[in-house]
Amino acid sequence: MERITTLDEFILDKQKDFPFATGELSGLLRDIGVAAKIVNREVNRAGLVNILGLEGSTNKTGDEVQKLDIFANNKLIDYMKNSGECSGIASEELEDFVKLPTKEGKEAKYVLVVDPLDGSSNIDVNVSVGTIFGIYRRVSDHGKECELKDFLQPGNKLVAAGFILYGTSTIMMYTTGNGVNGFTLDPSLGEFCLSHQSLKIPENDKYYSVNQGYYLQFDLEMRRYIDYCSDSRRSLRYIGSMVSDIHRNIIKGGIFLYPNSRNNPQGKLRLLYECNPMAMIVEQAGGKAINSNLERILDIEPKSLHQRSPIIIGSTNMVDEFEEFVKKYRPGKEG
Ligand code: AHG
Repeated sequence: MERITTLDEFILDKQKDFPFATGELSGLLRDIGVAAKIVNREVNRAGLVNILGLEGSTNKTGDEVQKLDIFANNKLIDYMKNSGECSGIASEELEDFVKLPTKEGKEAKYVLVVDPLDGSSNIDVNVSVGTIFGIYRRVSDHGKECELKDFLQPGNKLVAAGFILYGTSTIMMYTTGNGVNGFTLDPSLGEFCLSHQSLKIPENDKYYSVNQGYYLQFDLEMRRYIDYCSDSRRSLRYIGSMVSDIHRNIIKGGIFLYPNSRNNPQGKLRLLYECNPMAMIVEQAGGKAINSNLERILDIEPKSLHQRSPIIIGSTNMVDEFEEFVKKYRPGKEG
């Protein structure tokens, strides 16, 4: 029987490649792995919510029942607070970032950005959801509390990024800038086990993924590209849960588009919590991620914590093809 490699073993093994590593980043990644298992447990129990009590009500044990995305947020933050490996957390669920004012928190080198439960509107209908995270090295002085500038760094400064997909199986994928590896949770062992090594996004043109219901609200060049995909008999796959849609594209190849539209001129997805970490993972797997102005997602300078960005992400050949369409059809551009 082939020996399995657990997430913890893998992280520790990779740490050996950096002789001066203090183990803080490894510790942080391992803590995220544990927090993911806690969120996973609750996501799996979500179908029982009618038995256990509805959101806002009191359940049988006397606790108030929380919305699952709030629950995931609180669990992640509590867990990371106690881990002492990061100095602050910015979450899609919270207006402001959280400082970890303990001695360990002030000394810690890293800050975490997280979307605790992306696609949470899908939970009621039993569709896969995910957690997305990114880790930055802080730029403020160690020994003091972290500051806003620690979080407002472009994605090209991320030292690690990853996601956990709570799907038919639970998978965690992460990168520290040296390729992407995936780990599947074995429920019988309670361990994430290495299942996808050095992932590479296939270069094919089988799938496109966009909310085509907003078609009439998109810019001309976007509509032209969607027409072209449809006319080329490509398969449209849209789950409406970014982690699931991008995970599929990483495995099978394809493009995911969440563009600006009349109703959402900046798009919907958040630069810090969704676009940047996913862009780092996809680039590390050989893919590409840009915005509607054809700028690399990872080079955008964030101005605020909850800034949104249009995103076009996936197999390099498809994103390149999209760029050609924009150059050709954008009003006012030569072509
Ligand atoms: P939410 O967490 O509110 O369910 O949003 C999910 C995000 C993302 O995961 C997904 O790709 C996108 O929003 C779907 O938005 P539309 O419903 O507008 O297509």
